[in-house]
Amino acid sequence: MATRSNRVDTDPSAPFDPGEATLRVMRRYERLGPRGRREFLGTLAMLAGAVPLVAQELVPRTPRTTFPPQHSAKVMAPVNVHEIMAVAAKNVSKAVMDYASGGAEDDATLLGNLEAYRRVTLRRRVMVDVSKVDTSLDVLGQKLPSPIMIAPASKNRVVPQGDKMAAIGAKDANTIYGIVGNAHAFIEDLTKENKAPLWMASTLGDTNKNDAQTWAKRNEDAGATWLSVTVDHPYTPNRDNNIRNGFPGYEAGVLRPATPSVTWQYLDWLRSGSKLPLVVKGILNGEDAETAVKAGAQAIIVSNHGGRAYDGAVPTLIALPECVDAVGGKIPVFIDGGIRRGTDVLKALALGAKGVFIGRPHCWALMAFGPVGVARVVEMLNAELTVAMGLIGAPNLAAIKRSMVRLPWE
Ligand SMILES: Cc1cc2nc3c(=O)[nH]c(=O)nc-3n(C[C@H](O)[C@H](O)[C@H](O)COP(=O)(O)O)c2cc1C
Repeated sequence: MATRSNRVDTDPSAPFDPGEATLRVMRRYERLGPRGRREFLGTLAMLAGAVPLVAQELVPRTPRTTFPPQHSAKVMAPVNVHEIMAVAAKNVSKAVMDYASGGAEDDATLLGNLEAYRRVTLRRRVMVDVSKVDTSLDVLGQKLPSPIMIAPASKNRVVPQGDKMAAIGAKDANTIYGIVGNAHAFIEDLTKENKAPLWMASTLGDTNKNDAQTWAKRNEDAGATWLSVTVDHPYTPNRDNNIRNGFPGYEAGVLRPATPSVTWQYLDWLRSGSKLPLVVKGILNGEDAETAVKAGAQAIIVSNHGGRAYDGAVPTLIALPECVDAVGGKIPVFIDGGIRRGTDVLKALALGAKGVFIGRPHCWALMAFGPVGVARVVEMLNAELTVAMGLIGAPNLAAIKRSMVRLPWE
């Protein structure tokens, strides 16, 4: 039969007896020589000295920065974007998850975007005063707390009222929110309730000047901050997962037009209806970047639609430098595609982006937690960016330099 002390050692469910444990320690102490006793007492003193440190860890933490704000324990539980994605996957069907997360054909562009961030590495500078880290950004007439913005995405297709829910979250994060199509209708409601975010109205284009002009004017009147036109989606792409899952709007081998006749003239049409800054989304090379400037774009987004348009496109992070060079500082250059970490944002900014947009991460956050998730994912990435800037020696966005990154072939 096991003795009591045996049980204590082997059975984790047995109650801990402090008296017996002290007795055991004392017996061992008596068996030690003078040197062993000195070492033993030294260890005890060290542990006693560590008590305040241990206690500090046990008291409820006050946030060390004002970012990010705290939300419920459930919303704060995922510690990164990947974990938010895992929560999202539990809340929706496979077909919806595939639609939100997948790309075109073999996902080569989608994976290439992610891989590019992994392969571009950071070169830090040491002994820089980073006692304060400021992520705020002034761009196209807006002062934003963070360079992380929300890309246009058809969220009504993933969550009922998804576009509206995400707008409410975007307002809390105080970021620019890209909305698709004619979603300005709900923004007008939100404006009345003082819940409308700063929003960028986005379109794939219209087939005639009158429609373009009317769209631009309606959005300006409704309170849009910027207008954007997505130029990389003239036809519905092949998305194998969506076709296999029978997701509405996708068929194999059908050339389904979206806006195939839209050309640079479209920017003139928009300008005839609105004075808002025009952003062109979907640029991937220097030639188009230069043409966009000549056509009057006030900003471009280097984007391959997150790998959701055509497969085999250049990763956006790799296309970024040539676009930045071609624009020559005349207009801001933004980027999207594959941003999942604060260090990704840092790499994009170091390669010349003024700000970044996130697509899937905010869709996953919406599917995981609703509006609050959208605010949380922006805050989470901004908190990661803040830490990364602190570690790399960049106290503000202007201090993030090209020399802080190394391309794989450099
Ligand atoms: C569910 C979903 C729907 C999207 N719908 C649109 C759209 O209607 N118009 C558009 O310009 N981009 C759309 N995008 C692309 C995003 O604006 C963005 O370019 C892309 O998601 C960025 O890549 P990331 O998802 O890796 O961040 C969509 C993206 C997702 C995830």
